[in-house]
Parts: sequence; C-alpha cells; structure tokens
Amino acid sequence: MIELQGITKVYRTGSQSLEALRGVSLNIGKGEFVSIMGPSGSGKSTLMNIIGCLDTPTAGEYVLDSSKVAGLTFDQLAAVRNRKIGFVFQNFNLLPYATAWENIELPMLFDGKNGRRRRERVTELLNAVGLLDWRDHRPTELSGGQQQRIALARALANDPPILLADEPTGNLDSKSGEEIMAILTELWREGRTIVMVTHNDHIAAHSERTIRLFDGQILP
Ligand SMILES: Nc1ncnc2c1ncn2[C@@H]1O[C@H](COP(=O)(O)OP(=O)(O)O)[C@@H](O)[C@H]1O
Ligand SMILES: [Mg+2]
Repeated sequence: MIELQGITKVYRTGSQSLEALRGVSLNIGKGEFVSIMGPSGSGKSTLMNIIGCLDTPTAGEYVLDSSKVAGLTFDQLAAVRNRKIGFVFQNFNLLPYATAWENIELPMLFDGKNGRRRRERVTELLNAVGLLDWRDHRPTELSGGQQQRIALARALANDPPILLADEPTGNLDSKSGEEIMAILTELWREGRTIVMVTHNDHIAAHSERTIRLFDGQILP
C-alpha cells in the first residue's frame, strides 16, 4: 500500500540546509496499523507529510497503492490526497468559523459529492463519533476530545483507505485519548491502513508494529 525506498528530505532555508530524512525505506501493507515513534526533530512529521502527499521527497521512490507518486501532477496529487488519505493532526486543524457539520462536509464539497450524499454521510459520521447533538457548534465550543472526534469524522468523509494521524492524542487528556484510540482501532478493524505518530508507549501499544526514527533514519 505504502512503499518508500531511499527517501531523503532536505530543507533549505537561506544558506542553511537540513537533512530531515536520510534514506528512509519502509513498506506498510494494506490494513496494517503502524506507529512511528522518535524524539522531537527526528523527522516523524516530515515522513508523515511525504506519505500523505502533502510534501515531496528530495530523493527516493514513493509508490502509493501501486502508483508512483513522483510521476503525478499537482492536481493528481490533490485528488489522491482527497480520496485515498485522511489526516488527523495534534492540534485538530478544524476551521474555526465553520460548525462541526461544515467541517466534516468540506472534503465532500471538494470531491463534488451532491447535497444528499453529503447530508447522509455527515449524519452517519457524527453518529459514529457520538456528536450528532453538537452538529451546529463551532470548534471553540467543543472540548479537545470532541474537536479531535470531529477531525476524525472529517478525515473519514470520503471514506479513504488510509488514515494518517500525527500525534492525534498529543493535546488530549488520557480519557479523551483513549476514546480516540478506540475509534482508530475500530477503523483499523474495518480494514483501513493506519499510520500514527506518537510519543506515548500506551498509545503505540494499540498498533501492530512500531517504527523508531532517530535523526532522520529508521532504527533497526
Ligand atoms: N518546513 C521546514 N523547514 C525547515 N526545516 C524544517 C521544516 N520542517 C521541519 N524541519 C526540520 O526538520 C527536522 C525534522 O522535523 P519534523 O519532521 O517536524 O520532526 P518531528 O515531527 O519528529 O518532531 C527538524 O530539525 C525540523 O526543525
Ligand atoms: Mg512532528
């Protein structure tokens, strides 16, 4: 599903250059639940952004679901992201002036889904994360755990086979964190491929396999 071979990423800022990934090779199969751990600055988010087609590698090969990512145009990449990949971030990244409903609906608007499809799917997702009664609330009126559940629902809007979560429980208390993990685990059982960054061993223990990054390389 996700095949990375010799991936490097160099960030250039002015005269400085920083090698955030130094030859990362990694295969993640369909339906796997993998966690990525490592100290701050080890390249975890850089790797997630490359896997999620939010950023491109400086060198190396990336094959996603049998197609070479390097060969895709900007528009094709955006389409791949919207259909194949759902993202969840540590700070939720919800649109502040949009309601819970509107936040979840947005990826379906981008995908051109009609009004009826959108209404059915948003209702189904709000139910699945237990927040139908909160549909008209804005993010500031929701707790962190509720915001992350809305963010998860938004990530699932177009029913992507892959879910990428970058420290999804990093800003949550342990009870809300476990609620998010229960939903992620259920999504994995339904057959989704899940890649999650975490600093927390208890959270990582929900996954099948843990990859450790250090200074831009995978530890053996
Ligand atoms: N957009 C960027 N421009 C320049 N340097 C960056 C950028 N993003 C990350 N870095 C640097 O790359 C390294 C890896 O960062 P990151 O992938 O965010 O690590 P992690 O998520 O493990 O904390 C760090 O040294 C960070 O400062
Ligand atoms: Mg990070």
